[in-house]
Amino acid sequence: MSSHAEPEKKLAAAASLDHVHDGMLLGLGSGSTAEHMVRLLGERVKRGLSITAVTTSRRTRELAAHCGIPLIEFDGSRAIDLTIDGADEVDAALRLIKGGGGALLHEKIVAEASRRMIVIADSTKLVASLGRFPLPVEIVRFGWKKVARHLESLGATVARREQPSGDPFVTDEGHFILDCSWGLIADPDSLASRLDAITGVVEHGLFLEQASMAIIGEGSKTKLVRRADESGFSSGI
Ligand code: A5P
Repeated sequence: MSSHAEPEKKLAAAASLDHVHDGMLLGLGSGSTAEHMVRLLGERVKRGLSITAVTTSRRTRELAAHCGIPLIEFDGSRAIDLTIDGADEVDAALRLIKGGGGALLHEKIVAEASRRMIVIADSTKLVASLGRFPLPVEIVRFGWKKVARHLESLGATVARREQPSGDPFVTDEGHFILDCSWGLIADPDSLASRLDAITGVVEHGLFLEQASMAIIGEGSKTKLVRRADESGFSSGI
């Protein structure tokens, strides 16, 4: 990873908070970039910002609580005003690969319950085509090798994610993650549809429609990737 990655993550995280206002219900993402944002958000809450938040992983929940951010349980009954989350890859059409931290299921549910989703990332995450980062696919544990074979039949190299101890990684919802490499993904929509159709697949890390905008840290600046319908920004790529 680039030695610039951490400062770039912090820059993107700080810039995303310009979009946070009193009274908002926020979705807090997972991963190292989102954790920078949570710490900065906690500082603003201590200085008087009045927001409430839902979290996308146990780890983010613990950090947010530690930072003094008021949290509610997410039951899906309320729209979230804004979710801020990281990504493993972002392309120029705002399509994402997520799930490197294993929280993709809750991340996708929260993103889809949100009016806007801002992605924050360092410059290594911005890619011409998705797929260099292995796609995380969350699956039920029962009969998992059958699902792995199905994914291999679609041309993927499949590895069940493990913890450093060698035990399988288990998500917050008790599932396995299969990290699947196809090489560069020529048609993400088609791949997403194929994955959605596999019995035993709970969710996958292709986020093709959810992001409203990405803030990318690049050196000492940030740049934006945005949708045509996003307003309020004077620059982009
Ligand atoms: C967590 O499950 C992921 O989706 C993260 O958003 C993604 O892995 C980015 O993580 P970093 O910010 O640590 O690179």
